[in-house]
Amino acid sequence: MFDTNKKPAGDQKRRGGYYTPLKLASFLAKWAVRGGKQRILEPSSGDGNFVVACLEQSQNSHKNLLEPKIEIVAVEIEKEEIQKGKARVQALVNGHFRVEWLAGDFLSLFEALKKAGLFDAVLGNPPFIRFQYFDDKSREVAFTHLRSADYHPTKLANAWAAFVELSIELLADGGRLAMVVPAELLQVKYAAELRSRLSKHFEHIVLIGFRPKFRAKFAVSTVEKSGVHRPNFARRIGHAHLRF
Ligand SMILES: C[S@@+](CC[C@H](N)C(=O)[O-])C[C@H]1O[C@@H](n2cnc3c(N)ncnc32)[C@H](O)[C@@H]1O
Repeated sequence: MFDTNKKPAGDQKRRGGYYTPLKLASFLAKWAVRGGKQRILEPSSGDGNFVVACLEQSQNSHKNLLEPKIEIVAVEIEKEEIQKGKARVQALVNGHFRVEWLAGDFLSLFEALKKAGLFDAVLGNPPFIRFQYFDDKSREVAFTHLRSADYHPTKLANAWAAFVELSIELLADGGRLAMVVPAELLQVKYAAELRSRLSKHFEHIVLIGFRPKFRAKFAVSTVEKSGVHRPNFARRIGHAHLRF
């Protein structure tokens, strides 16, 4: 059973606020956070489980380093959650381990994030909200960014897919993507473009199912971006089931 420090929020469903157990976030951070200087993105941070996991992972593997080794950009639409996240990581940040918290809609901030520079890793658990529940303005902003990246979004799609799609655009070559996604990634029509983008841009794709808590509901894909883009590039698509 996962331990979690979360309690359900009243608006949990509306904003897709189901948080990732810290243990699972740490498992993914161990894979995604590597040595050396790294810029990391959490596109929908909630109160910061992935941020904590990345900082801990980086600090454990770089005990005596003088240079800043990790810079995390954490985006979250709920200001209150950001405050909680800031409080949680206060003791972990210093001149060498920095976190920039951005309060706002990741889908709208996409262009500004891209201009500020690509990331070595993107980790997170995006909100599961159908686009039909977005207001017209924010949906159009999201769709404009998706179209500029050659996707063809529709109202029937779910925002989690858009978060992964735009995260791929923000990932540097050689970067790693570790995201909690629903198992429907494998079959739904609205994720067809995402599936083909993943196989085109990433050399390794690993899907991990978690038992017992996440049984049937979630798969996690951890993938590595490659500079070479061609159809069906993925050389290895593996899967595993883990039990914590
Ligand atoms: C499934 S929760 C995951 C939170 C955190 N990543 C974790 O794994 O613990 C999704 C989060 O996305 C936030 N969110 C919803 N819409 C968003 C948006 N447009 N931009 C940024 N964050 C958003 C929600 O408030 C919620 O905290």
